[in-house]
Amino acid sequence: MHKGFLITFEGGEGCGKSSQIKLFTKFLEENKIDYVLSREPGGAEFGEMIRKILLFSKNNIDAKTEFLLFSSSRADHIKNIVKPALREGKVVVLDRFYDSSFAYQGYAGSLDLKDIKLITDFAIDGCVPDLTILLDISYEDGFARKSQDENLKNLDRIERKGKEYHDKVRKGYLELAKNEPERIKVIDATKSREEISNEIKNIFLEKYNKIKK
Ligand code: TYD
Repeated sequence: MHKGFLITFEGGEGCGKSSQIKLFTKFLEENKIDYVLSREPGGAEFGEMIRKILLFSKNNIDAKTEFLLFSSSRADHIKNIVKPALREGKVVVLDRFYDSSFAYQGYAGSLDLKDIKLITDFAIDGCVPDLTILLDISYEDGFARKSQDENLKNLDRIERKGKEYHDKVRKGYLELAKNEPERIKVIDATKSREEISNEIKNIFLEKYNKIKK
């Protein structure tokens, strides 16, 4: 068992994940809680190289190949960043983790959930999050928010996949949360930034204090 605390943030496009992660890490800093922030796909050098292939490759990547790349990046990330930080007792904050694979490649994509589970268990080597924050938002609200912030021409390969795909991602995430209500906490991402941020802090403190006792 590790000594640290692993918290992951998940959600569909435009759910406000990045700004909530910023507010959360600011809160950790203010409370002098030592943390490491990382993201998937990516993390260490090898993982960042895989990220570039996954998000910006012009070619259509086959579903299995794509998932194996995510998993390979994940295994590297766990070994070189996540586990060492947890061993040092830090809070590890991840912008996406394996729930993204279940939602995107499984529920919304063409892969069998059993296969995803098998490979994921192999890749994560026992590293299950202590807490997962799911920022739940509809396709319409998410893209409305995204288009305010960014030039839509810059959308990456996965973001361009359309409403049907992203509706399935959302449903998939909610199904995952239903199956693991203790770990995955669903937050309505249409609430105000402050409200959401306070909810996240409260949920975190409750779990963190229990584990640290
Ligand atoms: P990113 O630029 O990090 O987007 P976001 O701000 O939405 O997190 O891109 C990550 C994309 O990769 C995102 O569309 C979700 C997708 N993804 C998967 O499909 N499977 C996975 O296992 C992971 C980690 C991400």
